[in-house]
Amino acid sequence: MSITWTKKDLLSLYDLDAAEIKLILDTAAEFKKVSERRVKKVPALRGKTVVNLFVEPSTRTRTSFELAEQRLSADIININAASSSLKKGETLLDTVKNIEALQVDIVVMRHSAAGAHNFLAPRLSCGIVNAGDGSHSHPTQALLDIFTIIEKKGGVEGLNVTILGDILHSRVARSNIWGLLKLGAKVTLGGPSTLVPKEFEKLGIRVCDNLEEAVSDADVVNLLRIQHERQKTSFFPSTSEYANIFGLNEKTIKYVKKDAMIMHPGPINRGIELASSIADGPRSVILEQVTNGLAVRMAVLYLVAGSLDKAPS
Ligand code: CP
Repeated sequence: MSITWTKKDLLSLYDLDAAEIKLILDTAAEFKKVSERRVKKVPALRGKTVVNLFVEPSTRTRTSFELAEQRLSADIININAASSSLKKGETLLDTVKNIEALQVDIVVMRHSAAGAHNFLAPRLSCGIVNAGDGSHSHPTQALLDIFTIIEKKGGVEGLNVTILGDILHSRVARSNIWGLLKLGAKVTLGGPSTLVPKEFEKLGIRVCDNLEEAVSDADVVNLLRIQHERQKTSFFPSTSEYANIFGLNEKTIKYVKKDAMIMHPGPINRGIELASSIADGPRSVILEQVTNGLAVRMAVLYLVAGSLDKAPS
């Protein structure tokens, strides 16, 4: 059954059903083919204006969105939050309403406050695309992770996917959990019990505080960074202890199946959650995740722009 994208915003995978997630992934597969052509640019967003408002640092997501917008022929404005009127105390809603008053079509935003995008979206007629909000949601990261799993493993239904690390503070973990469960994967969360809330078991997820148990039947191991910037207290005695007990390294890789793939959303804390020999080794798909992020973000912008075109004016 074919479905049509109707949402003016992409806020979270929690809001999408399996068919909508598959539509984005199928559209991304078409855009990946475009990125492999000699001429990589298409006119899909010609005449549309996209503003990138990153109120929190980013390398991968910001670059990938901007390149996706260029490849789709959109007009682009990048706002440097540090030198914007947000610094003078202007509210986020006022800032974005002023951007919208310039007939901007889509705002791609990253913000440290969980729920910032959900607050803005119903108050605006332009599209809002979430590039990460606090510990809440990072939908395009999860979409590119799932796209990469499907590309490598042929699907996600029935696969054992282990997400390892700082689950408590991770928007990547939450977004992956929502997307993977909707597509029928079996999800395990691993890490110190202080960083992996038992409450996730209510969603039918396995929760482990033992590395071997968490990874031994995994088809995919997705490692997460310890997010020191979001931790208001200490959740484990030291990073070296974390690396010894929960890090994937030359010693602990023996617990992981030979054909399991190793993922990481980046940035990597090399030598803490993941040893360089594994991050750069043959089982790692970390840079392929980055490559696929471009196709996924092209798909999201294309679908959101298409729904804005259909909205009554
Ligand atoms: N994975 C990710 O969101 O990376 P950036 O913070 O560099 O965008």
